[in-house]
Amino acid sequence: MDDVNVRSVDTGDVRVDLDESSEDIATNPTESRQFADIAAARLSRRTIVQGSLAAAATGFLAPQAAHAGGYDSGRGSSGSLCGFEPLTTEAAVAGEGRMVTISPDYEYDVLIPWGTPIDPTCHIAPYEGDPNTRPTAEEQEQMIGIGHDGMWFFPRNLRRVLRYEMYLGGELDPLRRSNLLNSRAGFLCVNHEFGRNSHVLGKDFPETLEDVRLSQAAHGVSVVLVRRKGGRRNGKWDIAPSRKNRRITVNTPMKFSGPVAHSPLLSNAANNSPLGTVNNCGSGATPWGTYITCEENFNGYFGSTTPEFGGTDSLADQALARYGFSENGFGYGWHLFDERFDISNPHYENERNRFGWCVEIDPFRPNRKPVKRTAMGRFKHEAVAFKELPDGRIAAYMGDDQRGDYCYKYESNEPWRACIAAGISPLDDGKLYVARFDEGDAASDGKGTGEWIELTCREPLIAAAGLDTQDKVLTYARLAADAVGATPMDRPEWTTIGTDGEVYWTLTNNTAKDNGEGMVSEVNPIFENSDGYIISTTDTCSTEFEWNMFLISRNTRGENPGDDSNDVGYAAYAAPADGGANTFTDPDAAWADPFGRLFIGTDGGQPDGLQDQMVVIDTQTGEYKRLLMGVNSDEITGATTTPDYQTLFTNTQHPGNGNPESTNFPAPFDGVTIPRDCTIVVRRKDRGIIGS
Ligand code: FEO
Ligand code: CA
Ligand code: CA
Ligand code: CA
Repeated sequence: MDDVNVRSVDTGDVRVDLDESSEDIATNPTESRQFADIAAARLSRRTIVQGSLAAAATGFLAPQAAHAGGYDSGRGSSGSLCGFEPLTTEAAVAGEGRMVTISPDYEYDVLIPWGTPIDPTCHIAPYEGDPNTRPTAEEQEQMIGIGHDGMWFFPRNLRRVLRYEMYLGGELDPLRRSNLLNSRAGFLCVNHEFGRNSHVLGKDFPETLEDVRLSQAAHGVSVVLVRRKGGRRNGKWDIAPSRKNRRITVNTPMKFSGPVAHSPLLSNAANNSPLGTVNNCGSGATPWGTYITCEENFNGYFGSTTPEFGGTDSLADQALARYGFSENGFGYGWHLFDERFDISNPHYENERNRFGWCVEIDPFRPNRKPVKRTAMGRFKHEAVAFKELPDGRIAAYMGDDQRGDYCYKYESNEPWRACIAAGISPLDDGKLYVARFDEGDAASDGKGTGEWIELTCREPLIAAAGLDTQDKVLTYARLAADAVGATPMDRPEWTTIGTDGEVYWTLTNNTAKDNGEGMVSEVNPIFENSDGYIISTTDTCSTEFEWNMFLISRNTRGENPGDDSNDVGYAAYAAPADGGANTFTDPDAAWADPFGRLFIGTDGGQPDGLQDQMVVIDTQTGEYKRLLMGVNSDEITGATTTPDYQTLFTNTQHPGNGNPESTNFPAPFDGVTIPRDCTIVVRRKDRGIIGS
């Protein structure tokens, strides 16, 4: 979700608290402070980059393996992984943020804007931004939603290739795999995280249940077949008809699986079946070919028709506060017309516990219900990155995006291939861990060690907090993590896996440590952290890890943490080699390719008149370049490619915040047409490897 700090709006009859208890407002009451006494030792940015180089040394394996398979990493003759000519600040700002701008070596097309019918052969007219009309709720249920965010491209023949690999017992070599997988057609799963009422409805507040149903239908997930038409070089991507195309919304039947599935914490007096997913932020793809959509700020869609709720010291009420529920939520007003979202309605007491999960969607089986995988815990799931461990089990890395919240990991108990062969989900039987970061041997050296602490009711500190059964631990994972002293972080957003299995975590920003919303520490080094940073972690075993400060955004424009006496400073600071030309802040979306590049989408006020951007980082050298810039007030979300790495899909989310006087993207500027969230298809003009 974006960083607009609208706190309240007067709608006449009802005062609405917009974005209250969003990720910018901490709900973590703990005082875990592992790094309170940071030594003043300082360290150069250069050392940070060297740190990442050291980490990347063994990470050389993946590019080598790729080369061994004859794969072209796109490393240019200069030796740079990012050989492209960057989008300059001057070129980016020249268009006043009306249209997306891109590196001169690249081009882009627009795909599936909000309002595109998911069946291109149907008779529903697309919604194209007419300010005087909106789709009906019924139409919106058959259209691409708004708030494009996490996404993944599933090649059309993926299942066949996966079956072959199951037969082989392992993955094909990278080049063979890439050649076999379809890079011209596949299913794009796209999250529709959120759309404000003003954008979706054209008014600040719903007046009828139909209004609420339209808002609900604009949220959720789309699964659509996309394909590249025409010639090899110049064909454009478009949506294609398929029986598998579908919309998943907050009213779609769902299934619960794992340890909480049959818990009383998920049952209501109303005895209503589980429906829906909401605030689908980031995502991930499993090795077995399914999509995981992550439920982030679910609390904001609930409200209370009476001001009297919560407030006792019961576990349920502790969780109500810890997960940030409030009387008016984010101002969507759903609870006034749809009683499922009224937290004070006793018939739907546990409805709120049905959200905040990782949800698995099979893009190839349209009749399968999405499955909420409860073993992965309930919190404000940003995104998830999967990795196969040496013994064949899987690990999943997940951020909980709120000021002062935590980094989590899930590990399956059994190898994933054996599970899938036996018809069992590796996501139903495993352990959930939360991260505690320590400083390691030398304070303030930008690296340290840490512990993955298992969240189990067998842990005395967790049981003592009232979480004496595992369904309670998983449903109230934040409370369990508080009990074991997890490290509060500066808003953990996306995770992605590097070439050596290292995990990159974007920590987007946190300017409120003086309110007790987080802390300054070696791993959270900036007091007024308005710019964010990226760390990497490498597990040394299931329960221990090492971490590196990979990149501090403030450094990219020539400023060093340490300006504030409360910062953990980095001495011997060297200004960036590009003089700040490629500066960026607020890293959020993240995707690492198999060659050592890291793609970062930003979400927050950018310096120098820039809008949110996508930058590409060479993780082996620390070099970074601006690939594209979005439009006014948008956010760059999601990143996924075709198997040949020639096409990148990313998104512009909430362009202009819905204001047509700001931008009309994807329409050319006219000051009238409502801007629409959409996918941006990015390719090199010479059709080389993306990011090269
Ligand atoms: Fe949905 Fe934390 O971004
Ligand atoms: Ca964000
Ligand atoms: Ca250290
Ligand atoms: Ca995000």
